[in-house]
Amino acid sequence: MKGVFPVGKFADLQTPFYYYDTRILRQTLEVIRQETNKMERAVVHYAIKANANPQVLRTIREYGLGADCVSGGEIKAALQAGFSPDKIVFAGVGKADWEINLGLEHGIFCFNVESIPELEIINELAAAKGVVANVEFRVNPDVKAHTHANITTGLAENKFGIALSDIEKVIALAQQMEHVKFIGLHFHIGSQILNMNDFAALCNRVNELLEQFEKHHIKVENINVGGGLGVDYQHPNRQAIPDFQDYFKTINSLIRRREGQVLHFEPGRSVVAQCGSLISKVLYVKQGTNKQFAILDAGMTDLIRPALYQAYHKIENISSELPMETYDVVGPICESSDVFGKAVDLNQTKRGDYIAIRSAGAYGEIMASQYNCRALPKGYTTEDLL
Ligand code: LLP
Repeated sequence: MKGVFPVGKFADLQTPFYYYDTRILRQTLEVIRQETNKMERAVVHYAIKANANPQVLRTIREYGLGADCVSGGEIKAALQAGFSPDKIVFAGVGKADWEINLGLEHGIFCFNVESIPELEIINELAAAKGVVANVEFRVNPDVKAHTHANITTGLAENKFGIALSDIEKVIALAQQMEHVKFIGLHFHIGSQILNMNDFAALCNRVNELLEQFEKHHIKVENINVGGGLGVDYQHPNRQAIPDFQDYFKTINSLIRRREGQVLHFEPGRSVVAQCGSLISKVLYVKQGTNKQFAILDAGMTDLIRPALYQAYHKIENISSELPMETYDVVGPICESSDVFGKAVDLNQTKRGDYIAIRSAGAYGEIMASQYNCRALPKGYTTEDLL
């Protein structure tokens, strides 16, 4: 065992694979539970898009969280993991008819609607089934989050949500429809946000809207502020659990809720990122002209975040205690962007060593692809390896 890894248990497993440290996941969920209990009328829906490993989902469900889904597949995964339909919300800009029908058949809590055409289709499909669908409208709050451009979502230029200027018109339209019921507002400004001022800006926008709605006698039962809390990719051990206390406190104290309003959160990354690592083996150490490469059996197909977002993940050799040397850590895929890290300090590395790429529990396994006809990586929790 080196650091947090049961390396001895890895011998029989085919690399690369994802390893989820159940202890970290449970500690994180315990903090979320404690902090949620401090607030009144607060509900946390885990954003399944971050990680849908069945064992991970079951553990999250055990702690009483609901599920935020963005596809029919995610709704099925949530149901299979035992999430109760009345704790499932369904978001996404492009919901297909079968996906809407699946949500209606299971009587999920609500649909987060992003456009008028979508609202009309939900009303039509609900009418065909003789049911009424709860809908929240996703508002594009036009608030800038200080994060990577590919993962900001709350700007007017993004494809998400309904513009602030249209929102009252859309609510009025919904109120005339017989098979949808307007129950709340949904927001999400982006992901990997560590500056609480960004969430404060969102809260200000929410407050402005609530005031405007109050004047116009529009009742809002639910306020869903989305996800977005970031994690410390530099220090996965020191900061294994994100600062949920600050996050929940900031939002809960700033939003001026009206009587009975329920506050909803949709964290994804912050729940699962730090418990997961991509474990791979070194295939070759190759001497380049001015550098040496550690070539892994894991590639961008297993973890695409560095290639897609230039994301930093801490990399460790968990088999070696030798002095540090510097390597470019790369995968075997035929793409120059298949690089996990440049000039990475690792304990002196040889063929067969295990390498852990840390903080990979969120948007890791779930974004894996089969490019180059590779097999998808499997995921194991600590409990699986007992
Ligand atoms: N709610 C909505 C409406 C979302 O769009 C998202 C994430 C979440 C909740 C969860 O956000 P989180 O708490 O995880 O930040 N693949 C990218 C991240 C994409 C996030 C998409 N939306 C990455 O690897 O960084």
